[in-house]
Amino acid sequence: SIASLKLRQILDSRGRPTVEADVLLNDGSLGRAAVPSGASTGKYEAHELRDGDLNHYEGQGVQRIAAAAQAELQPRLLGAEALDQNRIDAVLREIDGTPNLQRLGGNPILAVSLAAARAAAIHTRQPLHRYLNGLVPGVAPSLPLPMTNILSGGAHARQGMDFQDFLVVPAGAESYSQALEWISQVRSAATRLAVREGFTTLLADEGGLSPGYERSEQALSLLVWAIETTGLRVGEDVSIAIDVAASQLFSSNSGRYSLRGIGADLTSQQMLIHVSELCRSYPISSIEDPFDQDDWEPWRQFTSAFRGERLQIVGDDLFATNAERLGTGGREGVASAVLIKLNQNGTLTGTLEVMECARAQGYATVVSARSGETEDSFIADLAVATGAGQIKIGSVRNSERLSKYNQLLRIEEEGALPFRNK
Ligand code: PGA
Ligand code: ZN
Repeated sequence: SIASLKLRQILDSRGRPTVEADVLLNDGSLGRAAVPSGASTGKYEAHELRDGDLNHYEGQGVQRIAAAAQAELQPRLLGAEALDQNRIDAVLREIDGTPNLQRLGGNPILAVSLAAARAAAIHTRQPLHRYLNGLVPGVAPSLPLPMTNILSGGAHARQGMDFQDFLVVPAGAESYSQALEWISQVRSAATRLAVREGFTTLLADEGGLSPGYERSEQALSLLVWAIETTGLRVGEDVSIAIDVAASQLFSSNSGRYSLRGIGADLTSQQMLIHVSELCRSYPISSIEDPFDQDDWEPWRQFTSAFRGERLQIVGDDLFATNAERLGTGGREGVASAVLIKLNQNGTLTGTLEVMECARAQGYATVVSARSGETEDSFIADLAVATGAGQIKIGSVRNSERLSKYNQLLRIEEEGALPFRNK
């Protein structure tokens, strides 16, 4: 059972404060977890609480809110059974008392939720992924296929490109380690080609290149070229994915999407035509958030236009790792996959419920990191434990990304797990 709880402020990969929790059990098992933070955060996410004290970290500190959460949570969790994740998460939600965790903050609550799971894994002497798999009876674990950022725009880069993420999917790989090697080859080739073209190779928030292209087509062409350069087959061995992160481009006042790259403000119907053309012109196998989180009509039309084709349509801001919103998507025939971000939901149990809901309605799942990350590799184990099929971590640069990629290598080495090649 839980003997003590400690919440602290640490820094994330953007050098911004975030919350880390230590959960100590009576037998000495110590579970530690840190939470990430997004830049293109959606409207329907669990609330990320910050101190707002302008004397520290420009108001972004979490020292006070961490202390406040610790003071309230510690007495209520003392003696609680760490193996009962359901109950711990229910208590966390109940203490906060708001649906989107705005009182204590989704950030300290998630940190405690994850740290408790880690403590329980240590207590039961199991690797984290095996312990987590025990929380989802009947689900077969597997190694996920990575969907990896190569170029960044939008809120993750300071220059150029309206769309946020240009990624590669090594779907033809035989194993996770082969997938990782292919990605690394493509990533390096992209750097060389950008240099040759005279573009800068500055890194964006997720370690991807930020060459300052204006148009999406330039990024997509570079990806095709980079894949070809490695000798891999474009569209077969390695295909392309994009995350439009369209909520960032949408203005609810005008009802339009502002695309600087083409110098136009597009209506939903024009946006629908624009993204459809891109998907038909390039070897794109997955597209995320092509429309705003509240712009359901083009989502519906886009999904039905591509039904039966090999294009995965992922809801990130749209679903916000929220079972209710995902249920709406299922009923309305919107999207075919859901991005899974623990901190959009707020607890481990809530996140596992969303993944169960996805399975039940036949949606694929992509476990995802945030643009602001820590060295915590929890999501690698989560993706394996839940047989998620896919994982999106960012580029194969920077240790807050590599901690997850490398953890998957270690799990692969344990043997016996299939590579879910989907
Ligand atoms: P975020 O970006 O962490 O800045 O929200 C990730 C994504 O949009 O998928
Ligand atoms: Zn996204």
